[in-house]
Amino acid sequence: MVTDYKILGDAIALPFSGRSAPSRFMKSAMTERLSSWDQHDPTNRGIPSDELVRVYEEWGKGGWGIVVSGNLIVDTMNLEAPGNMIIHRSQQKQDELESQMRRLIAGSKAGGALFVAQLSHGGRQVTSAIQPNPVSASDVKLDDRMGMSFAKPTPLTEEGIRETVENFAYAAQKLHEWGADGVQLHAAHGYLLAQFLAPSTNQRTDKYGGSVANRARIIYEIFDAIKKRVNDPKFVLAIKINSVEFQKGGFSTEESAEVCAELEKIGVDVLELSGGTYEELAFGHRRESTKKREAFFLEFSDVIVKQLQKSTVWTTGGFRTAKAMVQAVQDGATQGIGLARPATQDFDIPRKLYTGKLDAAPQGLIPEDDFGMTNLIAGTQIRQVGKGLQPFDKSDESAVGEFKATAGKFMEAGAAAAKDGVVNAGYPDHAGSPYVPIDTAQ
Ligand SMILES: Cc1cc2nc3c(=O)[nH]c(=O)nc-3n(C[C@H](O)[C@H](O)[C@H](O)COP(=O)(O)O)c2cc1C
Repeated sequence: MVTDYKILGDAIALPFSGRSAPSRFMKSAMTERLSSWDQHDPTNRGIPSDELVRVYEEWGKGGWGIVVSGNLIVDTMNLEAPGNMIIHRSQQKQDELESQMRRLIAGSKAGGALFVAQLSHGGRQVTSAIQPNPVSASDVKLDDRMGMSFAKPTPLTEEGIRETVENFAYAAQKLHEWGADGVQLHAAHGYLLAQFLAPSTNQRTDKYGGSVANRARIIYEIFDAIKKRVNDPKFVLAIKINSVEFQKGGFSTEESAEVCAELEKIGVDVLELSGGTYEELAFGHRRESTKKREAFFLEFSDVIVKQLQKSTVWTTGGFRTAKAMVQAVQDGATQGIGLARPATQDFDIPRKLYTGKLDAAPQGLIPEDDFGMTNLIAGTQIRQVGKGLQPFDKSDESAVGEFKATAGKFMEAGAAAAKDGVVNAGYPDHAGSPYVPIDTAQ
């Protein structure tokens, strides 16, 4: 019996922007792959669909403190996956982009949550089917994995870095104009900014390589450029950063603490801690010691949080029970609780937890250490809600059985299309019953 679940509904004051997140819950970034996709014309990509707008309207009613978008890419080539949202000058249909983004943002905020867009660039982690000429900090190639192959990247020139920094700032400026409360730089999970942070992928000898301060320089420059372009002290600056990478030459916990302390100095309000890269996925338990506390990265956030006085820490990965969440907050390991996979079975999981209606996010039949399958499940549930369907019940044997068959066909169709040189976007489509919109009066 958790008696203190109500503290999960506490508002969190963001020290630099002066804004307040109305609960401790962050809907962590999940790529939705529901924006426009044109394999051959990069200018015809990245506009959110009506389905995606509907998805965010539902999260907007869920009791979240912060709703973070999935990967939103700052140019038309360096995607996490086909169907990502994109904001770039070169896109056609700028009016449609603006109106869909405005609707999505308004829907996310309708229940009081802050909407923060996750700005991202794939760097060397963009499949060669989309980006045959990737860039990175250095020319360290990523080996083929997860059914994707990756070309050897070219190190960004200083001019290329300047352009990239401007792309991030431009996207932030547009998001601010369109009603977003802030932006989160995606500097975790092995994408471009994480490639700069990790010694294994950053072998530069110029001012962007070597010391931690140099490897993080691109991030500081992006925040600086955002501040100049947005020019609104109430705009929330956030980052998602690895607290651990579990690999040789990876970005270490101590280095992460150093960067976080610097980010506090430059006014970053929200530090979301995660871990792992494509090479060493860490969305499951990697250590016995972390199992006891449920969340994967608390052991590392303990180290980082000690370096901070003002910025708020939100730890993501593995949290499922109100008990473990309350404990982590009471231990001072984190102030906010990031949730991803639980947010697609129950779009209003925060309200259910902080009102005591549930004492844990429902578990599915597929173990969450199987990130490949649980990721597909989450992506499909998002897609279902976009279509006005109920997310299928991941704890129900027959529903999971049907889903596995759907997912199998999806993978086969993707592989067959790839043989013909066709790159598809999205997650498996799955039938279901009509969606019952969240009743916020409950
Ligand atoms: C379907 C899916 C898509 C994801 N996409 C992103 C993303 O776009 N950006 C990101 O930073 N993390 C992404 N993640 C990782 C989550 O934000 C989160 O860090 C991870 O799932 C661990 O949290 P959880 O145990 O609560 O699911 C994704 C996870 C899932 C399941």
